[in-house]
Amino acid sequence: MSSVAVPGGLQRPATFYQSVVGKKVVMAATGFVLCGFIMGHMIGNLQLFQGAEKLNHYAELLQSLGGALWLIRGVLLGCVLLHIFSAYQLWRIKAEARPEAYVRKATIATSYAARTMIWSGPIVGAFLVYHILHFTTGQALGSAFIKGDVYHNVIAGFSNPAAALFYIVANVLLAMHLYHGVWSMFQSLGVNHPRYTPILKTVAKIYGWAIGIGNVAMPLAVLTQVVK
Ligand code: HEM
Repeated sequence: MSSVAVPGGLQRPATFYQSVVGKKVVMAATGFVLCGFIMGHMIGNLQLFQGAEKLNHYAELLQSLGGALWLIRGVLLGCVLLHIFSAYQLWRIKAEARPEAYVRKATIATSYAARTMIWSGPIVGAFLVYHILHFTTGQALGSAFIKGDVYHNVIAGFSNPAAALFYIVANVLLAMHLYHGVWSMFQSLGVNHPRYTPILKTVAKIYGWAIGIGNVAMPLAVLTQVVK
Protein backbone atom coordinates (compact mmCIF):
# COMPACT_ATOMS: atom_id res chain seq x y z
CA MET A 1 0.00 0.00 0.00
CA SER A 2 1.40 3.46 -0.88
CA SER A 3 2.19 5.75 2.04
CA VAL A 4 0.76 9.26 2.23
CA ALA A 5 2.36 12.13 4.22
CA VAL A 6 0.15 12.86 7.25
CA PRO A 7 0.51 16.02 9.43
CA GLY A 8 2.07 15.31 12.88
CA GLY A 9 -1.12 15.58 15.02
CA LEU A 10 -3.02 13.17 12.75
CA GLN A 11 -0.28 10.53 12.70
CA ARG A 12 -1.71 8.37 15.51
CA PRO A 13 -5.36 8.28 14.31
CA ALA A 14 -4.12 7.64 10.74
CA THR A 15 -1.92 4.73 11.91
CA PHE A 16 -4.82 3.35 13.97
CA TYR A 17 -7.17 3.58 10.98
CA GLN A 18 -4.71 1.58 8.85
CA SER A 19 -5.31 -1.49 11.07
CA VAL A 20 -8.36 -3.75 10.61
CA VAL A 21 -9.45 -2.94 14.18
CA GLY A 22 -9.16 0.79 13.39
CA LYS A 23 -11.44 0.44 10.36
CA LYS A 24 -13.94 -1.59 12.39
CA VAL A 25 -13.99 1.05 15.12
CA VAL A 26 -14.60 3.77 12.50
CA MET A 27 -17.48 1.67 11.08
CA ALA A 28 -18.91 1.16 14.57
CA ALA A 29 -18.60 4.80 15.66
CA THR A 30 -20.09 6.19 12.43
CA GLY A 31 -22.77 3.46 12.53
CA PHE A 32 -23.64 4.50 16.08
CA VAL A 33 -24.21 8.12 15.00
CA LEU A 34 -26.29 6.97 12.00
CA CYS A 35 -28.37 4.63 14.21
CA GLY A 36 -29.20 7.58 16.45
CA PHE A 37 -30.28 9.65 13.45
CA ILE A 38 -32.38 6.82 11.97
CA MET A 39 -34.25 6.29 15.26
CA GLY A 40 -34.79 10.04 15.81
CA HIS A 41 -35.88 10.53 12.18
CA MET A 42 -38.37 7.67 12.41
CA ILE A 43 -39.87 8.89 15.70
CA GLY A 44 -40.30 12.36 14.16
CA ASN A 45 -41.79 10.97 10.94
CA LEU A 46 -44.31 8.82 12.81
CA GLN A 47 -46.15 12.09 13.50
CA LEU A 48 -47.55 11.37 10.04
CA PHE A 49 -50.19 9.38 11.96
CA GLN A 50 -51.10 12.53 13.94
CA GLY A 51 -51.97 14.58 10.88
CA ALA A 52 -50.65 17.33 8.62
CA GLU A 53 -50.38 20.06 11.24
CA LYS A 54 -48.24 18.00 13.61
CA LEU A 55 -45.85 16.69 10.94
CA ASN A 56 -45.45 20.04 9.18
CA HIS A 57 -44.89 21.83 12.47
CA TYR A 58 -42.13 19.33 13.30
CA ALA A 59 -40.52 19.89 9.88
CA GLU A 60 -40.68 23.69 10.41
CA LEU A 61 -39.01 23.27 13.77
CA LEU A 62 -36.13 21.38 12.13
CA GLN A 63 -35.78 24.04 9.41
CA SER A 64 -35.66 26.76 12.08
CA LEU A 65 -32.39 25.26 13.35
CA GLY A 66 -30.72 27.10 10.43
CA GLY A 67 -26.91 26.85 10.72
CA ALA A 68 -27.13 24.02 13.26
CA LEU A 69 -29.15 21.97 10.75
CA TRP A 70 -26.31 22.34 8.21
CA LEU A 71 -23.82 21.29 10.85
CA ILE A 72 -25.91 18.16 11.59
CA ARG A 73 -26.20 17.45 7.84
CA GLY A 74 -22.41 17.81 7.49
CA VAL A 75 -21.73 15.40 10.37
CA LEU A 76 -24.23 12.86 8.98
CA LEU A 77 -22.76 13.07 5.48
CA GLY A 78 -19.26 12.64 6.91
CA CYS A 79 -20.45 9.56 8.84
CA VAL A 80 -22.13 8.04 5.76
CA LEU A 81 -18.98 8.55 3.63
CA LEU A 82 -16.61 7.19 6.30
CA HIS A 83 -18.95 4.24 6.94
CA ILE A 84 -19.03 3.33 3.23
CA PHE A 85 -15.28 3.89 2.75
CA SER A 86 -14.25 1.72 5.72
CA ALA A 87 -16.83 -0.96 4.72
CA TYR A 88 -15.29 -1.05 1.23
CA GLN A 89 -11.76 -1.31 2.61
CA LEU A 90 -12.71 -4.10 5.04
CA TRP A 91 -14.49 -5.97 2.23
CA ARG A 92 -11.31 -5.69 0.09
CA ILE A 93 -9.15 -7.02 2.93
CA LYS A 94 -11.53 -9.98 3.46
CA ALA A 95 -11.80 -10.74 -0.25
CA GLU A 96 -8.03 -10.71 -0.71
CA ALA A 97 -7.42 -13.04 2.24
CA ARG A 98 -8.13 -16.60 1.05
CA PRO A 99 -11.38 -15.90 -0.85
CA GLU A 100 -12.33 -19.61 -1.22
CA ALA A 101 -12.22 -20.38 2.48
CA TYR A 102 -14.12 -17.18 3.20
CA VAL A 103 -16.95 -18.00 0.79
CA ARG A 104 -17.39 -21.48 2.24
CA LYS A 105 -17.36 -20.22 5.84
CA ALA A 106 -19.68 -17.32 5.08
CA THR A 107 -22.42 -19.46 3.59
CA ILE A 108 -22.40 -21.95 6.42
CA ALA A 109 -21.60 -20.15 9.64
CA THR A 110 -23.15 -16.70 9.47
CA SER A 111 -26.74 -15.45 9.69
CA TYR A 112 -28.81 -14.29 6.73
CA ALA A 113 -28.54 -10.68 7.94
CA ALA A 114 -24.73 -10.94 8.12
CA ARG A 115 -24.43 -12.46 4.62
CA THR A 116 -26.62 -9.75 3.13
CA MET A 117 -24.62 -6.83 4.64
CA ILE A 118 -22.55 -6.46 1.48
CA TRP A 119 -25.57 -5.81 -0.75
CA SER A 120 -28.09 -4.45 1.78
CA GLY A 121 -25.56 -1.62 2.37
CA PRO A 122 -25.42 -0.44 -1.29
CA ILE A 123 -29.23 -0.81 -1.70
CA VAL A 124 -29.81 1.31 1.43
CA GLY A 125 -27.30 3.82 -0.02
CA ALA A 126 -29.25 3.96 -3.32
CA PHE A 127 -32.49 4.32 -1.33
CA LEU A 128 -31.00 7.30 0.53
CA VAL A 129 -30.11 9.14 -2.70
CA TYR A 130 -33.62 8.49 -4.10
CA HIS A 131 -35.21 9.45 -0.76
CA ILE A 132 -33.49 12.87 -0.65
CA LEU A 133 -34.52 13.56 -4.29
CA HIS A 134 -38.05 12.42 -3.36
CA PHE A 135 -38.81 14.32 -0.13
CA THR A 136 -36.06 16.91 0.41
CA THR A 137 -35.24 18.38 -3.01
CA GLY A 138 -38.38 17.06 -4.77
CA GLN A 139 -37.03 16.10 -8.22
CA ALA A 140 -38.23 12.48 -7.86
CA LEU A 141 -41.72 13.69 -6.91
CA GLY A 142 -41.93 16.13 -9.83
CA SER A 143 -44.76 18.68 -9.96
CA ALA A 144 -46.49 17.08 -6.93
CA PHE A 145 -43.70 18.39 -4.65
CA ILE A 146 -44.69 21.36 -2.47
CA LYS A 147 -41.74 22.88 -0.59
CA GLY A 148 -42.52 23.09 3.14
CA ASP A 149 -45.63 20.87 2.98
CA VAL A 150 -43.97 17.67 4.17
CA TYR A 151 -47.27 15.91 4.93
CA HIS A 152 -48.55 16.49 1.41
CA ASN A 153 -45.22 15.32 -0.09
CA VAL A 154 -45.23 12.08 1.93
CA ILE A 155 -48.85 11.30 0.99
CA ALA A 156 -48.20 12.11 -2.68
CA GLY A 157 -44.96 10.09 -2.65
CA PHE A 158 -46.42 6.94 -1.10
CA SER A 159 -49.60 7.09 -3.20
CA ASN A 160 -47.39 5.82 -6.01
CA PRO A 161 -47.35 2.02 -5.42
CA ALA A 162 -43.91 1.55 -7.05
CA ALA A 163 -42.34 4.19 -4.78
CA ALA A 164 -44.11 2.82 -1.69
CA LEU A 165 -42.99 -0.71 -2.52
CA PHE A 166 -39.40 0.46 -2.97
CA TYR A 167 -39.54 2.09 0.50
CA ILE A 168 -40.94 -1.11 2.01
CA VAL A 169 -38.24 -3.34 0.47
CA ALA A 170 -35.43 -0.86 1.27
CA ASN A 171 -36.58 -0.51 4.87
CA VAL A 172 -36.81 -4.28 5.40
CA LEU A 173 -33.22 -4.50 4.13
CA LEU A 174 -32.27 -1.54 6.31
CA ALA A 175 -33.75 -3.30 9.36
CA MET A 176 -31.68 -6.43 8.62
CA HIS A 177 -28.60 -4.31 8.00
CA LEU A 178 -29.16 -2.56 11.34
CA TYR A 179 -29.74 -5.79 13.25
CA HIS A 180 -26.42 -7.23 12.16
CA GLY A 181 -24.73 -3.79 12.21
CA VAL A 182 -25.68 -3.01 15.82
CA TRP A 183 -24.50 -6.43 16.94
CA SER A 184 -21.16 -5.99 15.09
CA MET A 185 -20.86 -2.49 16.53
CA PHE A 186 -20.90 -3.84 20.09
CA GLN A 187 -18.20 -6.34 19.18
CA SER A 188 -16.00 -3.76 17.41
CA LEU A 189 -16.24 -1.38 20.36
CA GLY A 190 -15.20 -4.19 22.71
CA VAL A 191 -18.60 -4.50 24.44
CA ASN A 192 -18.36 -8.26 24.24
CA HIS A 193 -18.69 -10.37 27.35
CA PRO A 194 -20.27 -13.87 27.33
CA ARG A 195 -22.59 -12.75 30.13
CA TYR A 196 -23.94 -9.83 28.10
CA THR A 197 -24.01 -11.50 24.65
CA PRO A 198 -27.71 -12.52 24.82
CA ILE A 199 -28.68 -9.02 26.06
CA LEU A 200 -26.69 -7.28 23.30
CA LYS A 201 -28.18 -9.58 20.66
CA THR A 202 -31.66 -8.78 21.98
CA VAL A 203 -30.92 -5.02 21.91
CA ALA A 204 -29.78 -5.33 18.25
CA LYS A 205 -32.89 -7.38 17.41
CA ILE A 206 -35.31 -4.96 19.08
CA TYR A 207 -33.63 -1.99 17.41
CA GLY A 208 -33.78 -3.61 13.94
CA TRP A 209 -37.42 -4.68 14.36
CA ALA A 210 -38.47 -1.26 15.70
CA ILE A 211 -36.95 0.55 12.71
CA GLY A 212 -38.36 -2.01 10.26
CA ILE A 213 -41.90 -1.85 11.66
CA GLY A 214 -41.97 1.95 12.06
CA ASN A 215 -40.57 2.74 8.62
CA VAL A 216 -42.65 0.13 6.77
CA ALA A 217 -45.83 1.26 8.57
CA MET A 218 -45.71 4.70 6.88
CA PRO A 219 -45.71 3.74 3.17
CA LEU A 220 -48.09 0.86 4.00
CA ALA A 221 -50.56 3.18 5.77
CA VAL A 222 -50.65 5.58 2.82
CA LEU A 223 -50.85 2.78 0.26
CA THR A 224 -53.83 1.23 2.08
CA GLN A 225 -55.37 4.72 2.62
CA VAL A 226 -55.31 4.37 6.41
CA VAL A 227 -53.59 7.78 6.22
CA LYS A 228 -54.60 10.17 3.45
C1 HEM B 1 -40.85 5.54 5.64
C2 HEM B 1 -39.71 6.03 6.04
C3 HEM B 1 -39.29 7.47 5.91
C4 HEM B 1 -40.04 8.60 5.78
C5 HEM B 1 -41.55 8.73 5.77
C6 HEM B 1 -39.11 9.70 5.68
C7 HEM B 1 -39.48 11.03 5.49
C8 HEM B 1 -38.62 12.07 5.21
C9 HEM B 1 -39.01 13.41 4.85
C10 HEM B 1 -40.45 13.89 4.74
C11 HEM B 1 -37.89 14.14 4.63
C12 HEM B 1 -37.82 15.63 4.23
C13 HEM B 1 -37.92 16.47 5.48
C14 HEM B 1 -37.93 17.94 5.20
O1 HEM B 1 -37.65 18.36 4.08
O2 HEM B 1 -38.23 18.70 6.14
C15 HEM B 1 -36.76 13.25 4.86
C16 HEM B 1 -35.44 13.62 4.76
C17 HEM B 1 -34.40 12.77 4.99
N1 HEM B 1 -34.45 11.44 5.33
FE1 HEM B 1 -36.13 10.36 5.59
N2 HEM B 1 -37.83 9.23 5.78
C18 HEM B 1 -37.90 7.87 5.91
C19 HEM B 1 -36.83 7.00 6.04
C20 HEM B 1 -35.52 7.39 6.05
C21 HEM B 1 -34.43 6.49 6.24
C22 HEM B 1 -34.57 5.00 6.47
C23 HEM B 1 -33.28 7.24 6.19
C24 HEM B 1 -31.87 6.83 6.33
C25 HEM B 1 -31.41 5.61 6.15
C26 HEM B 1 -33.68 8.62 5.95
C27 HEM B 1 -32.82 9.68 5.81
C28 HEM B 1 -33.18 10.97 5.49
C29 HEM B 1 -32.24 12.05 5.26
C30 HEM B 1 -30.72 11.96 5.33
C31 HEM B 1 -33.00 13.18 4.93
C32 HEM B 1 -32.50 14.59 4.59
C33 HEM B 1 -32.53 15.40 5.86
C34 HEM B 1 -32.14 16.84 5.59
O3 HEM B 1 -31.05 17.06 5.08
O4 HEM B 1 -32.93 17.71 5.89
N3 HEM B 1 -35.04 8.66 5.87
N4 HEM B 1 -37.24 12.01 5.21
